[in-house]
Amino acid sequence: MRNLKRHDTSDILIHWFNAASWLVLLITGLGLIKNDRLNPLGAWFPDALRALFGGGSAGGAVLLVIHEVAGVLWVLGILAYVLVNARGAKFFLKEIFSVRPGDFLWLIRKMGRMTLGIGGELPPQGYYNMGQKAFAQASVAGGAAIVLTGAVLLLSDKMLPASATVFVGWAVTLHYLAVGLVFAGLLVHIYMAAISPEEKPGFRSMFTGVVPEDYARHHHGIWVESLGEGDKADPGAP
Ligand code: HEM
Repeated sequence: MRNLKRHDTSDILIHWFNAASWLVLLITGLGLIKNDRLNPLGAWFPDALRALFGGGSAGGAVLLVIHEVAGVLWVLGILAYVLVNARGAKFFLKEIFSVRPGDFLWLIRKMGRMTLGIGGELPPQGYYNMGQKAFAQASVAGGAAIVLTGAVLLLSDKMLPASATVFVGWAVTLHYLAVGLVFAGLLVHIYMAAISPEEKPGFRSMFTGVVPEDYARHHHGIWVESLGEGDKADPGAP
């Protein structure tokens, strides 16, 4: 059976770099919320994490530095990807923001199938299905909001007194809201991508870069139809 190329090495590297950055930023970010009324996990989590880095306010300061450095590296990594593979970045943005007429029906039927076991034939999908597009849109918009609000917080922490920025209160609120939005989508994304048996070839493609042609035809028919014979050549073939 023939394989089709789905991801470049740079796509795979940026995806896993992004996932690792999210993990570090989420853990350190939750550890920074030292307010019992705000921390979703309660006080034990920030206390335990701070204890790991020296305890008390010194531990909190180390956690903040790790969070800030990871945030800056995350942005630099994404910029490096855009420089190395501008075509890939452009293709990704174009695909996720192009919604076709059958896409909404696909989403409703897919949810019906997964929750109630009802729903008709799924309309054919392009490079991404509508569920993937919705998550990708949320992560791009949410990611931009997280970076912009994070930059305001970093500046107010390092260069300006907090009182000098009228934006700080809004920046904190929007930072939390954007993380919450992307995190909600992430739970579904990880389930669909790594746990759901139907999507296993898609999961493997995030390491190998290729998917079997029959899987691609079944899940991303419009994409396969749009490929020329040259694009379809088995990348593993001699
Ligand atoms: C354990 C963690 C993760 C796993 C197992 C995972 C898995 C995958 C897989 C298999 C794909 C390829 C889907 C395809 O080409 O058909 C993918 C795509 C993608 N991933 Fe992840 N991912 C993880 C974490 C993340 C994180 C943290 C983010 C960002 C917040 C993210 C954002 C994306 C985006 C935007 C795409 C492209 C659109 C999509 O397929 O939904 N992923 N992921």
